[in-house]
Amino acid sequence: MCGIIGYNGFRDADKVLIKGLKRLEYRGYDSAGICVIDKKLKIYKDTGEISKLEKNIPSFKGDIGIGHTRWATHGAVNKINAHPQLSDDKKIAVIHNGIIENFKILKEDLKNKGIKFKSQTDTEVIANLIKYNYKGNLENAVYSSIKKIKGSYAIAAVCEDEPDKIVGARNESPLIIGVGDNENFLASDITAILKFTNRVIYLNDGEMCVIAKDEVTVFDEKKKKLDRQEQMINWNFKDAEKSGFPHFMLKEIYDQPDTINQVLRGRVSEINRNIEFNENVEDLLKNGVDSINIVACGTSYYSGLVAKYHIEQFTKTPVIVEFSSEYRYFGTKNKNSLVIGITQSGETADTLGALREAKKSGCRTLVVTNVTGSTATRISDAYILTQSGPEIGVAATKTFTAQILVLFLIALKIGVNKNEIGPGELYKHILDLKELSRIVREVLENSNKILDIAYLLKNAKSIFYIGRGVNYPLALEGALKLKEISYIHAEGFAAGELKHGPFALLTKITPVIAIVTKDSTYDKMITSIGEVKARGPQVISIADEDDIEIEKYADFVIRFPSNTRHLSFIPIIVILQLIAYHVADMKHCSIDKPRNLAKSVTVE
Ligand code: M6R
Repeated sequence: MCGIIGYNGFRDADKVLIKGLKRLEYRGYDSAGICVIDKKLKIYKDTGEISKLEKNIPSFKGDIGIGHTRWATHGAVNKINAHPQLSDDKKIAVIHNGIIENFKILKEDLKNKGIKFKSQTDTEVIANLIKYNYKGNLENAVYSSIKKIKGSYAIAAVCEDEPDKIVGARNESPLIIGVGDNENFLASDITAILKFTNRVIYLNDGEMCVIAKDEVTVFDEKKKKLDRQEQMINWNFKDAEKSGFPHFMLKEIYDQPDTINQVLRGRVSEINRNIEFNENVEDLLKNGVDSINIVACGTSYYSGLVAKYHIEQFTKTPVIVEFSSEYRYFGTKNKNSLVIGITQSGETADTLGALREAKKSGCRTLVVTNVTGSTATRISDAYILTQSGPEIGVAATKTFTAQILVLFLIALKIGVNKNEIGPGELYKHILDLKELSRIVREVLENSNKILDIAYLLKNAKSIFYIGRGVNYPLALEGALKLKEISYIHAEGFAAGELKHGPFALLTKITPVIAIVTKDSTYDKMITSIGEVKARGPQVISIADEDDIEIEKYADFVIRFPSNTRHLSFIPIIVILQLIAYHVADMKHCSIDKPRNLAKSVTVE
């Protein structure tokens, strides 16, 4: 949720920190602040976006500092509660991502010892706890303090009396070290430091680190030094730029032909006529997959629902898809089941919790994620990367497409392993997959009509999305995308369910977006559209280029290329993303940073 960056090197720390915070703003953006050590701790913080902070910030001299962008959990959004938080003697500054569950008890205890508090944050408690434990060595004080803390945290601390180091610690919140030449970094997210280095060291839960200019040291939970190897990240800094697009979201929608190629590369082999994953994944998909549980949140949950249709269709294996937050506490954990966690960030607290519970019960776990080295990849038996590059827009677009495509490949692979898909059928799928990137490019190149539709929708108070089969979760995702970024109320429904209740909400001014594909659901969808029209709303249909009939039933039609067979879910989702984007753009909404949302939800 919150973003963290620390810098110790030879550059102006304030400039590095602001650059990093701009990259992290998508994690949370209600307030932000930095602290630079220039003999004393110099702090500047403010509410609002980083651009506001940048405009007003005094120029600090100093080559070491920490910065934070906040998504409030404890305490209102104001300057006092923004990070960094200071100890009461102003000698220790701390930034923090996470929630300290026992902060009230700790605060009372510190108050009884005479410590005065200014903010409502749990972070100020950490700063004062470190001050209380400080006896001339910051890492020792941080170590003693984290032993008292219960909850999730990624923290970075600096001390006026030791101006040559930053101390970091993590538990259930992401924190990485960026390694440079005569400069080192600490960050919650690779994108914050990608401009300066792509050499990283991942911290694990319970670990601590000391960031000096020319050295980084990692300690385990017993404060024993660890020998940790750096890893190279193959994300490109340019991938985290807008490249001329007005918003990251639009850029990321247009990235999708490449995203598709990235997902298929090395996994779909026309020569071998096979779907290939790494050995760990192949083993998991081979051995007795009798049932599958999918756990995920938000858009990733809808990926799971899309996958359920494909896996059940191609493999005859039952699939249960659950919200991570529900599965974690209530889901049936059958140890013969394969549990697939889907998470773009690899850091969503609910999904990590669900995966840990699954592991505890003896289930095998597979993760589909976009982030190398993320916590999800480290707590599961195997993982598949969606290889989409950084996604900055809070609304997931290209990573959703990559997830549903990876999961489609998993469905094919299990189908082959279970002899439900023969070589001929697999080869047809492979040939179709090879066309996919071109098809999506075509959709993007011919998307002008979507602007007219967006114009029609922009003043609606409520919009329904309907579909059947695999188009039902697409309807859910289309509606989520629209409500997230345009603030228009939108709901996705299984078309057959309308008559069981939602019809009561339909009026002439409730546009309905109907996803219609030329398959076994076609006739039923036409019936549903008829039922809707009888109640007055305008129907916008997303349909196959070859579908002439649809013009008779829908008021407007957006086309996708024909002959996509099983893969129509990909061009359809791109169309739904574009509808949401253009409606939000026409309403002048904050598209990349919608209100009250954060890209990665690292607290429960
Ligand atoms: O990183 P994750 O995929 O685990 O995140 C899950 C959800 O928070 C995420 O998909 C959210 O719903 C997106 N903002 C949707 O656009």
